Parts: sequence; structure tokens; C-alpha cells
Amino acid sequence: MTTPPRIDAAALDLDALEGVEGRVAVLLGPDGSLDAAGRRVSELTGGALERFATHESAERMKPGEIRELAFPSGMAARAVLVLRLDPDSDAETVRKGGAALAKAMEGEDLLVAAEALAEAEALALGIALRAYDYRELKGEDPEEDGPVGPGAVTIMASEAPDLGGGGHAAAIYLVRDLVNAPANVLTTTAFADRLEGLRAEGLEVEVLDEDRLQALGMRLLLGVGQGSESPTKVVVMRWSGGEGPPLALCGKGVVFDTGGISLKPGAGMEDMTMDMGGAATVAGVMLALARRKAAANVVGLVGLVENMPDGRAQRPGDVVRSMKGDTVEIINTDAEGRLVLADVMWHAQEAYEPSAVIDLATLTGAIIVALGQENAGVFSNDDALADAFLAAAEAAGEGAWRLPLGPAYDKLLKSRVADMKNVGGREAGSITAAQFLQRFVKEDMPWIHLDIAGVASRKSGTDLSAPGATGWGVLALDRLVRDRFERGEAG
Ligand code: BES
Ligand code: MN
Ligand code: ZN
Repeated sequence: MTTPPRIDAAALDLDALEGVEGRVAVLLGPDGSLDAAGRRVSELTGGALERFATHESAERMKPGEIRELAFPSGMAARAVLVLRLDPDSDAETVRKGGAALAKAMEGEDLLVAAEALAEAEALALGIALRAYDYRELKGEDPEEDGPVGPGAVTIMASEAPDLGGGGHAAAIYLVRDLVNAPANVLTTTAFADRLEGLRAEGLEVEVLDEDRLQALGMRLLLGVGQGSESPTKVVVMRWSGGEGPPLALCGKGVVFDTGGISLKPGAGMEDMTMDMGGAATVAGVMLALARRKAAANVVGLVGLVENMPDGRAQRPGDVVRSMKGDTVEIINTDAEGRLVLADVMWHAQEAYEPSAVIDLATLTGAIIVALGQENAGVFSNDDALADAFLAAAEAAGEGAWRLPLGPAYDKLLKSRVADMKNVGGREAGSITAAQFLQRFVKEDMPWIHLDIAGVASRKSGTDLSAPGATGWGVLALDRLVRDRFERGEAG
């Protein structure tokens, strides 16, 4: 388990700046101005900071950028970090600034000293998110493996700032740890065990085993897992902080996707350890809701399964009856995510009668062709809900872009022998996948499908994350719940 750095709030103490070790960060305002902390640091360093602040290289700095003045004389610190930031900046800019500080920490302690900072919580989140380092499976030799974990952080302002309790950081760390974990470590059983641990956070957690899934008729889900030694499971997490019917979040949790009998090519197959990103994100959102004691009813359901080729694995051409009752011709065993979600979403609607359903899945390679790693694909049957989600994602700084649905795409799923087939063909692959899911959404049920194949884990780092798992979606969905589902309001 990767733990976020310890981040404390304190009241600004100008006398402490001289003796602090590690790094000391101060703000450089939009017009090159220094606040009381900056002026104090300049005084200690014989005017070095003021010289920097009026130099043209400081003028060229963009909001959220930092420069390091190493080994300042007159201070015990090993470096002063100058953060270009208007103290009244919006949360996204402040978060970026925090991330820049974290990147410069190199495992040592950090003191941020500011007179005022409107979005101190965003600064703490930015620091925590960029400090994340997945090193669970590495050694502990600092020379070989780099510094072990982040140092401690203190954020000082005239009045000790409210840092919000760190729930978002904890939730995103959970998602990233799950997504980064390899499939021999994060088996379906290990995943379910981890989610059972969320009971300690105040969530109700129930694990459905294969016998139970059989009894419920979740044959599409079980078919995906029937070639694996690991048992298929569904985990249900509930947060009951509100009134009325819940919002249902459904996640694809394929702990490894070989493609099954329709085997994937070898090159890059190791990336399919992240094919449980939807399930991980659902768990992260549930944790975020529990940490802030959200006034909402939300139920999260994840289908945990491994897609393997085997003597018992399902074949192309097999016809399987869904929990809903419709039959599906399995044309390609690599189009398994939609089979997992079809039954999980149907069960969610039957068992919990939700006010809306949102599913998350690393569903198609085609969404990466369309949108790259910048935006998740958004599909919905409800314009108001989709608009609310897009607004929440925008405010959270998480890329999301809506794509169309329609009957002409749905037609592509016609099968000769069954009610539908599980792939539509080469064209519009992400849309036909979404059409398949929509067949398992009840009439008039507001629904969003998020195809997160491109955004759940990234080849290169972003402002807020190192290469690998991102935790995309936790902030957007938590905000959507806050904006639209608190106190039992209908979706
Ligand atoms: N898990 C993959 C989608 C994926 C691809 C996720 C790349 C992340 C990165 C999914 O199960 C899959 O294999 N989809 C197929 C569907 C096809 C067989 C219709 C695909 O995208 O090729
Ligand atoms: Mn697949
Ligand atoms: Zn998959």
C-alpha cells in the first residue's frame, strides 16, 4: 500500500524559516511581488530572492512553475523553491503548483510558507498526487531504487490553512495502487480482499462468489472467467449517507486480459494488467465518498475476473444467455469487458433500483485511436446527466469527451444465431461497444458509459502523475455526486 505524504497545516512563523532543513517554498506573485515569507527569505539570503524576482527569467515563469535556488547562504535549507503563483489562483493552477513542488522534493521534507493561499487544499492535493511512487515491488536500497517515499510537508499561512483531510489523495492512491499492481499480485481474490478492507472506512462491502453469481444467472460474466484458475467475483460496496434510490457505479475489473481464445498479440500484452481500471476507479470513488461522509446514497459494483485461454475457456461462436435473458453470440473472446458489465449492470438495476447508472471500463483500444490519452470517451442516453458529468470533469481537470450513440450503430450488433453478437466490426468500435452496453440499460434509466482505456494508465507522466496509473475519474465523479446526487435528488 502506497501512503500519501504527511501534510500538516501551520500558522506562518517567519522566525522558523532560517533553521528549516529540506526545502523551503515561497510564492512569487503575478507582478513579481514577494509576500512576508518571501521577503524574509530574501532578507536571510542577502537579497538573493529579490534579485531573482526582478530578473527577466522570473518574469518568464508561467503560473504553477517553480525555480530552485540551491544551497542558499544564510539558511539551513538545501534549497529555496520559488513558486510562481497568484495566491488567489483557481484550484487547478494551485494543484499544478503543488505537483511541481512535489517533483522537486526528491524524498526530502518541504515547507511551503505563504502569507495567504486561497486554495491550500488544492496545493496539498497537487503535492500528494505528484509524490505518488509505486515501489511496493522494489527493493529498499536508496542508491539503487531512489529515495524511499516522500518527505513530510508543512503548509504555512497567516492562519493555519484547512487542508481538507486528504480524502481525495487517499482515494486516488488506492486506484493507482490497484491499477499498477501486476496480475499475479492482484488476483481476483486479492482484489476482493482489498475491497473488504474498505469496511474500516465505513463502507458496507459484500462479496458474491461463483455459486452466488451462478444462482443470479450472471453467465456472461462467468463465461469470461471460465478459463482462469482465479475465481470470478462481484464485490458490492455501499455508501448510505443520503435518502432515496442510490446512484449505481459499475466497474470492469478484468485483472488480466489475454484476449482469451481470441488471443491478443504478445507485444504490449503486459499492459493488460490495467484492465481492471474501471473497478479500481469505482472503489476509489466509494472511498472518497466515505472519507468526506457524502450526503448521498451510492452503490458500487465491480466484476472481478481474469480472461485466459484454456481448455475450459469459452470459444468464439459460443452462445451465452445473459442475466437479462437475451442471448449473445461470442464472436471475439477479447471483447470481454462488455460481457462483464452487461451482467453487472443488469444486477445493479435489478437489486438496487438506482436513480442512475454510471459504468467505467477500459473497454476499447478504439477509444485510444479516437481520443488518445487526454480524454475519456463519454456515452450517455441522458443529455442533462452527461452535461453535468462533463462540467464536473472540466472543473476537476480530468479530460472527457462525448461521442454519439444511435440505432444505426446498434444494428451492427445483429447476429444470425443469437439476439446479438458481442462485436460490431472494425468501424466505430468504441460506439458499438457502448451500444452493446446500452442493451442492458433499462428503459428510462439515466446512464453514462465512460471508456477509460486511454486515461486510466499513461505511458508518460502528466502534471499530476508519474508514468503509469493516473486515478482519472475520482475527482470528477466525486464532484458529480456532490453537484447532483446529494440528499437523494434524482439523477
Ligand atoms: N481491454 C481491452 C481494451 C483495451 C485496449 C484497454 C488497450 C486498454 C488498452 C478490451 O477488452 C479489448 O480487448 N477490446 C478489443 C475489442 C475488439 C475485440 C472488438 C479491442 O479494443 O481491440
Ligand atoms: Mn479484451
Ligand atoms: Zn479487456
